[in-house]
Amino acid sequence: MTEVIDSALNIEDIAAQFPILNQRVNGVALAYLDNAATTQVPRSVITAMSQFEQHDRANIHRGVHTLSQRATDDFEAARANVKKFLQVPKMHELIFTSGTTDALNMLAQGMTFAISGEPLLRAGDEIVVSGLEHHANLIPWQQAARRTGAVLRIVKPDDQGRLHADDLRKMLSSKTRVFSITACANATGYCPPLKEMLRLAAGAGAMTVVDAAQAVGHGKVDVEDWGCDFLAFSAHKMYGPMGMGGLVGRRSLLERLSPLRFGGDMVDWVTFDDAAFNDIPARLEGGTPNVGGTIGMSAAATFMMNLDRQALATHLAALRAQAVAALQKMDGVRVFVPENSDAEAIVSFVVDGVHPHDIGTFLDEKGVAVRTGHHCAQPLLECLGVGSTTRASFAVYNTHDQIDQLVAGVARAIKVLR
Ligand SMILES: Cc1ncc(COP(=O)(O)O)c(C=O)c1O
Repeated sequence: MTEVIDSALNIEDIAAQFPILNQRVNGVALAYLDNAATTQVPRSVITAMSQFEQHDRANIHRGVHTLSQRATDDFEAARANVKKFLQVPKMHELIFTSGTTDALNMLAQGMTFAISGEPLLRAGDEIVVSGLEHHANLIPWQQAARRTGAVLRIVKPDDQGRLHADDLRKMLSSKTRVFSITACANATGYCPPLKEMLRLAAGAGAMTVVDAAQAVGHGKVDVEDWGCDFLAFSAHKMYGPMGMGGLVGRRSLLERLSPLRFGGDMVDWVTFDDAAFNDIPARLEGGTPNVGGTIGMSAAATFMMNLDRQALATHLAALRAQAVAALQKMDGVRVFVPENSDAEAIVSFVVDGVHPHDIGTFLDEKGVAVRTGHHCAQPLLECLGVGSTTRASFAVYNTHDQIDQLVAGVARAIKVLR
């Protein structure tokens, strides 16, 4: 058993708030280490959503009756609370989406045409995307480039999977219209020099976009401090519900983004021939939203705001350091981006002579849930010279004993499978 030395958080009490964690898988206490794919939800989130469904559920904005007004108030209060959690400045607004993928598609596609004036993206513009990205922050830009005749350029990582601000500097010009980058690479846990790169891109006149899908669960997001124009995130990676998330954007730019969903709630008036559209945020939220999801996401934001952010960062770093140190001692194991100063909450590794899928299956038999595969980041893995990895990813409720369980499982897998 490893001594716990890092945490000002009471991990046992926190874990007890997550009903799903209290179970055995294949006869062994569950060690849930697949948090980069999705985190689990605490009782406070489950209760908030269930309260809404049992007491306040009604469609929002259009009703004069009490339930509809309550639901509308809950919905807008959720927006305000999530904005507070993400430190969204006054010049920005939060648009509810079904998650990061939805937010990035809304953004990239919405830039390609305009409901009035010029679209945000045009032929000859350049879109610069980092080479660390999840497919959700790459394919929408590929498609936007194809549709508009813009040029897509990639800031490639080195063979360790790290980005260098100088490579971006050389790529920027007056043609650069968009720069999009993750705050934390989901396949490796690597965190690029985000603020420096955002500053460089903004200095060249580009619109800056941050994929915060991973960072949001690490308690690191601060839109005001980062100074980005747009930020996309998912609730299910910050202890909230699935199918919920948001796009934060600078108001002046959101106003120029074309809606993709035309219909109810996003219009001011409609005739048989024409329509005038509502203001932001409603303009970009056509149709009945996932109101219960917004309430769950807000409860998750409150859960996170009640955690000491520094203590959370220290805890996640200690878990990662323990896993990296133990894995690196094993013969034939390669950990990607091993230094803690460059990465957080995720350990991605390959083992000579054993396929990641076999390691994942073996670990499941030992009650350890990890993810194996390309993690929807195939171009990055190609740069690293591998087709797939085993990825363990950590959350506030994970313990040092669970890292021991992971490490013992990997050691045993190597013995049996190699
Ligand atoms: C960095 C990153 N971006 C985008 C996504 C897509 O998120 P979602 O599936 O919630 O839309 C993920 C999901 O793993 C991710 O890790």
